[in-house]
Amino acid sequence: MKLLVTGGAGYIGSHVVRAAEAAGHSCVVVDNLSTGLVARISSPIVELELASADAPELLAKLMKQHRFDSVIHLAARKQVGESVQKPEEYFLENLGGLANLLLAMREAQLMSLVFSSSAATYGMPDVDKVSEDYPGVPINPYGQTKLIGEMMVRNAAVWGLKGVNLRYFNVAGAGSADLADTAALNLIPIAINAVKSGKAPVVFGTDYPTPDGSCIRDYVHVEDLALAHLAAVDYLAEDAQEFSTFNVGTGIGASVIEVLDALKIASGIDFEVAIGERRPGDPPRLVADVSRIEKTLGFRTKHDLAAIVQSAWDAS
Ligand code: WQD
Repeated sequence: MKLLVTGGAGYIGSHVVRAAEAAGHSCVVVDNLSTGLVARISSPIVELELASADAPELLAKLMKQHRFDSVIHLAARKQVGESVQKPEEYFLENLGGLANLLLAMREAQLMSLVFSSSAATYGMPDVDKVSEDYPGVPINPYGQTKLIGEMMVRNAAVWGLKGVNLRYFNVAGAGSADLADTAALNLIPIAINAVKSGKAPVVFGTDYPTPDGSCIRDYVHVEDLALAHLAAVDYLAEDAQEFSTFNVGTGIGASVIEVLDALKIASGIDFEVAIGERRPGDPPRLVADVSRIEKTLGFRTKHDLAAIVQSAWDAS
């Protein structure tokens, strides 16, 4: 298939592009290169600001020229803390960009879209495993843009769009060093940076109602996540409903302390760990119910926590 991948020069996007090409698809990337790196991919890149006024026309032209089978839309700002400080930028870029993309798709009659959503749409769920039907309420502007983005994809069914929303849980790891997450905004890259500079990684709270007191998350390998996009594209090409939403996680939770233990093994360094205060807004536990994606797309992750952490360490 021929795929348009927005944000394809980013950490997750470049893994999607590489997996797509390995599966025999061809990709054209649209990216504003704000955090994306040209060196990560060999596909053609169109440098474009999706939220700009001329984006719908430029995108529609590109779509008509290439006759894509599907669009995978990852381009977005993704820092929760920054979204609290600059909510307008998040709404403008994440939702303005998506609106422009949908306008172009409608114009070009391109009817298949995979949308990069997030477990941030759930807010603070108080369940063991969160399913897609959980009535979550996002607690920050970033999560709000993802939930509203899902609604925009659903609304587009009126002109014939088929859409899949993928709600990513905690994405980590790397397929190779050149695709690594360079931003160090999440636990695993932050902890790796700390260890490499001889500092103690900090656990944000050990007084949560979890077995070891630290927060539990569902860490998913970025290479597994990339393959979930290809499963979604195949599904859209076959028997998809108009609109569906899938969690992408492993269904297995790991605490911050367990992640740091895995990093001790991966790095071979018995580093010190510091205990810090709770970080505001952290749910104690956020683990995916993955039964829907397993049943509907036949998708299962292959990498466990040890493999995720090892790949992140090896790529660092
Ligand atoms: C993981 C756990 C921290 C750093 C975020 C977004 C979410 C999604 C994924 C984008 C938490 C703890 C962290 C540290 C720590 N984003 N921690 N010490 O917050 O679960 O999810 O990224 O799509 O929307 O909210 O990820 O990696 O920041 O934290 O103890 O130095 O590690 O408190 O429990 P989070 P994270």
